[in-house]
Amino acid sequence: MSEKKTSNQMWGGRFASGPAAIMEAINASIGFDRKLYAQDIRGSLAHAEMLAESGIISKKDQREIARGLNTILSEIEAGTFEFSAKLEDIHMNVEARLAELIGPAAGRLHTARSRNDQVAVDFRLWVKRELERVAGALKGLIAVFLDRAEKHAATVMPGFTHLQTAQPVTFGHHCMAYVEMFARDLSRVRNAITRMDESPLGAAALAGTGFPIDRHRTAAALGFREPTRNSIDSVSDRDFAIEFLSVAAITATHLSRLAEEIVIWSTPQFGFVRLSDSFSTGSSIMPQKKNPDAAELVRAKTGRINGHLIALLTVMKGLPLAYSKDMQEDKEAVFDAAETLDLMIAAMTGMVGDLAVNEAAMREAAGAGYSTATDLADWLVREAGLPFREAHHVTGRAVALAEEKNLPLEKLSLDELKGISPAITADVYSVLSVENSVKSRTSFGGTAPHEVRRQVRYWKKRLARA
Ligand code: ARG
Repeated sequence: MSEKKTSNQMWGGRFASGPAAIMEAINASIGFDRKLYAQDIRGSLAHAEMLAESGIISKKDQREIARGLNTILSEIEAGTFEFSAKLEDIHMNVEARLAELIGPAAGRLHTARSRNDQVAVDFRLWVKRELERVAGALKGLIAVFLDRAEKHAATVMPGFTHLQTAQPVTFGHHCMAYVEMFARDLSRVRNAITRMDESPLGAAALAGTGFPIDRHRTAAALGFREPTRNSIDSVSDRDFAIEFLSVAAITATHLSRLAEEIVIWSTPQFGFVRLSDSFSTGSSIMPQKKNPDAAELVRAKTGRINGHLIALLTVMKGLPLAYSKDMQEDKEAVFDAAETLDLMIAAMTGMVGDLAVNEAAMREAAGAGYSTATDLADWLVREAGLPFREAHHVTGRAVALAEEKNLPLEKLSLDELKGISPAITADVYSVLSVENSVKSRTSFGGTAPHEVRRQVRYWKKRLARA
């Protein structure tokens, strides 16, 4: 049996006794939603100012409220504020302290508002700010890739499909593929911000309010484009949190693919890159080892972020309109995803910026596995007028012969090549080298160094405006 407790100071009128300890434990969110303190206070300041401007509370009360709220802000920032689980969440912790500080005027702050619109506005403000940070971090990561791409626009490496050597590409081109991915993430971040840029404050519990409030005013004061249009949706919507997690999950997935490539490239077998000492670890037993732990952890943390997205979708999927307490479970997922994503982007930015690129190893691997076979087939089409299917067949025979002799394609003699197709002339050797192969891929978006440099210029210009 729970011991009797004094009833809650916010709704004590209706209650004879306080909650059971276990009720308090399951109900309280102050352990995590204290993170919203700055947004909560900012929202209350804007709300009180609007209430005074609209003649709903006196200017004198508003000044008292503002003074008290600013004191609370400094107390929390100084670490002297005492959070209490009895007061459930950040909203009631702040309001209770306000009452201690300024007395009865504190009780006027909650006029024409509910915790339902309060938490919605606080959390939106928090997520919006976090997305701005993610945008900045992504721009930093993209800048590192642009720099690498520019330097390595002509560095030949093998391009893969099925992780089998496919055709030679340049490392710069490969870097630009990540620029495209992270730039899409950046645009998703911007889109999400635009969509969530509406203030739910003033929706009150769910139905709006009879007080003559000015929602446009509070929206503007809080930096939102406009107020939300439907009070029921305002308090029951968590799309902004879900979108944050989905943007985070997609970004994390890109980071994870990059992490996987770094893990592969840094093996002694590949040896394409060497991680700097600052972004690798050693082994306690094998002295020769240099492990890509940071890349592996980025890969693994993606699972955590994806899990948070599924968790919140699952929390929301069965909820009738409007607010249900289930929605309190939105925060930890987002907080953890935000912290995790920050760390992942920072680690990757550092790692990619610090990588030593082994051009010789890339060049050597680029020529392995008959990577210029397509160039031979294309040459047969272009110079000897063969239909592509036939050229493909002839090239297949040349590859088989080279394989049999354990030679690269360009080491087959002209006689040997002529034995496969009499149409072949000495000119064919000009396309069999990996350098000529990449140089010839001049189609828009192709891997030719010139085209890679053009892509770099395009993104530099575009991102300067983003
Ligand atoms: N701590 C709550 C949350 O995060 C605040 C809203 C509570 N509203 C309510 N009607 N109980 O969702």
